Amino acid sequence: MKFDFDEIIDREGTDAFKLELREAFFGTNDVLPLWVADMDFKAPPKVIEAIQERAAHDIYGYTIREEKFTGAIVNWLKTQHEWEIQESSIEFTPGVLPAIVVAIHEFTNPGDKVIIQTPVYPPFYSIVRDNNRELVKNSLVETEGYYTIDFESLEEQASDPKTKLFVFSNPHNPVGRAWKYEELKRIAEICLKHEVMIISDEIHSDLCLFGNKHLIMADLFPELKSQIITSMAPSKTFNVAGLSTAYAIIEDEKLKSRFHKQLNALQLHMGNLFGGVALTASYNYGVEWLESLKSYLESNALLVDSFVKEHMPEVGFVLPEATYLLWLDFRKWDLSPAKLKKAMVEIGKVGLNDGVSFGVEGAGFQRLNIGSPKAVIQEGLERILKVRNEVYHP
Ligand SMILES: Cc1ncc(COP(=O)(O)O)c(C=O)c1O
Repeated sequence: MKFDFDEIIDREGTDAFKLELREAFFGTNDVLPLWVADMDFKAPPKVIEAIQERAAHDIYGYTIREEKFTGAIVNWLKTQHEWEIQESSIEFTPGVLPAIVVAIHEFTNPGDKVIIQTPVYPPFYSIVRDNNRELVKNSLVETEGYYTIDFESLEEQASDPKTKLFVFSNPHNPVGRAWKYEELKRIAEICLKHEVMIISDEIHSDLCLFGNKHLIMADLFPELKSQIITSMAPSKTFNVAGLSTAYAIIEDEKLKSRFHKQLNALQLHMGNLFGGVALTASYNYGVEWLESLKSYLESNALLVDSFVKEHMPEVGFVLPEATYLLWLDFRKWDLSPAKLKKAMVEIGKVGLNDGVSFGVEGAGFQRLNIGSPKAVIQEGLERILKVRNEVYHP
């Protein structure tokens, strides 16, 4: 293979969150880190080259983002997602979460209600609550490991006049759904009818697997134009999350100018030099790398699938439609969330994301990050099996 995803790279000494915060999250550094959503792979060679070339200049003063930056985004969205946008619809943001926070500040007031669909990426809770908005949870419906949306409850929540914003994860972290046309259509109808704004977090959009296709809400339903913001980034796709570079697409001029003003008011608009370099190089030269990455992630997901089927068939697992984050159901082990976490850490010495951190619906689940070399994933599975051998007595 042209790109070596099997290479094991030591991340010690790089201040990696995934390594350094093990003590804080698991109470020990002695766990195999298969949690935080970045990957243990090198960025694409062209990205490394571009960063190194710019780093060689030695002056790292303030920079601007030019047509190179927005042009790369326009081209990426057109070629990868068949979405044709104007450069003028692009707004830089220093992350996808900051974009959501800007939207919360600008388009809702303290006390307003904001809908999220749970279980979901934990900061979705805190960014709503910490900004003094009321969180409304629409629990996803789980049927044999496959998650769907409860539209009845969504409609009821959206119909409350205090509900102003829907923070939508598409594809959904952690349940791995790439939402289908009919699902997006119903969300669009509900939000249009009840005038609820949508911030569509599409950070995982480039990582659809197994033939699934990412559908962009704003592209499919132009009637939503005046009430939708799409937030995207190269961070998950090309493993450059440490460079804090993302963007929002807002096709409605009025909406965009309000977002822009709030972004500036919060002083979030400057960005960093290397993030711009990485985005441009990723989008201009990263397609072949991304195709190889997706094949590798699929093979890792299939490895988990066959391991689970063979060695722990009681563990629930459905192949993800998107993302490198697998959602494993250990409910048949019959342990409380605290005991399950403790067993993984103390018996298995494996660091997975605790299911309940994504919401009460995650009790009995753990999230496994497969963005690592196959040998590491295999080791992680062996460690989970060790836990099973001690705790599962059917
Ligand atoms: C759904 C989702 N949104 C946002 C983020 C974080 O985005 P950022 O680091 O750009 O704020 C993540 C990271 O895992 C995520 O899974």
